[in-house]
Amino acid sequence: MRILSGIQPSGRLHLGNYFGMMKPALELQEKGECFLFIANFHALTSVSNPSVLRSYTLEVALDFLACGLDPRRTVFFKQSDVPEVCELTWYLSCVTSMGLLERCHSYKDKVDKGITPNHGLFAYPVLMAADILAYQSDVVPVGKDQKQHLEVARDIAIRFNSQYGEAFVIPEPYIQEATAVVPGIDGQKMSKSYGNTIEIFGDEKTTRKRMMGIVTDSTPMEAPKDPDKSIVFALYSLFATAEEREAMAARYRAGGMGYGEAKKTLFEKYWAHFEPFRRRRAELAADPAEVERILKEGAARARAEACRTLQRVRSLVGVD
Ligand code: ADP
Ligand code: TRP
Repeated sequence: MRILSGIQPSGRLHLGNYFGMMKPALELQEKGECFLFIANFHALTSVSNPSVLRSYTLEVALDFLACGLDPRRTVFFKQSDVPEVCELTWYLSCVTSMGLLERCHSYKDKVDKGITPNHGLFAYPVLMAADILAYQSDVVPVGKDQKQHLEVARDIAIRFNSQYGEAFVIPEPYIQEATAVVPGIDGQKMSKSYGNTIEIFGDEKTTRKRMMGIVTDSTPMEAPKDPDKSIVFALYSLFATAEEREAMAARYRAGGMGYGEAKKTLFEKYWAHFEPFRRRRAELAADPAEVERILKEGAARARAEACRTLQRVRSLVGVD
């Protein structure tokens, strides 16, 4: 089984990225052949400063390696090191209807927010389809917001296969219900673009302050509280075992625990969870040449796979 996912280097990674995509993808490392990449071409749709893009790219690489990506097992690379995906994007574009892309929520949401769309933003799902199809991916772990993009990738693959002949595996999304949408500190989906994130590797003081700022209702300390309506509880549940989660839910329902105390407990859980990862990240950050080496080695393996697909695709479309 080939597992593939990517993440844009468009900001500091947060708990939504970690629980929605990274953790499930890293767990799948054991189950098949895993390809993970840093989607720096995609990030150009929102990051226009080259040194910022370079620095986010290294940060994402460090985050993944620190969180348990094993480069001996997983092919880890930068999207731009496999330029064949751009060529494939063109072949796929020519079997993709405008309507399919015009229906994409993430494009429509950005336009509704007042962003003047460029062609890159509009064509974003086709490049994403190329990422997935170039490596003949079976399973794509992502958060729920990427579900529609996966459907587009499947539609494009089916269309190409039926028009030209079998070239692509039809990929399946892998979305875990419990972590499909991680809430941010304001209760909306946690997202870099909403400014409501809790970073995976935020510094202690800032993160503690952000957690203390999580939106709560005004139920007084002594009153019983509904854990299912609490963002603090939803975030705590991501870190807790089933027993810890039940014990915390019982404390909410019993009353006598204020939100301040619940937030402190959440912070401690978070801080302890990432402690070993923080240590590993600091070690890796001291050796960026090693990170570069890992990415280059991954790129060579990924590129060989993409080249095989492209050879077949060129011949099917008639440009060989
Ligand atoms: P952002 O919305 O912060 O820009 P990305 O679009 O870069 O995040 O998402 C990278 C990966 O993390 C995707 O697979 C996405 O589905 C997942 N992800 C992002 N935010 C969340 C969230 N709040 N809950 C669950 N998964 C998320
Ligand atoms: N669009 C994805 C995101 O914002 C990133 C991405 C690019 C991706 N190419 C991919 C994810 C291929 C999975 C497979 O999160």
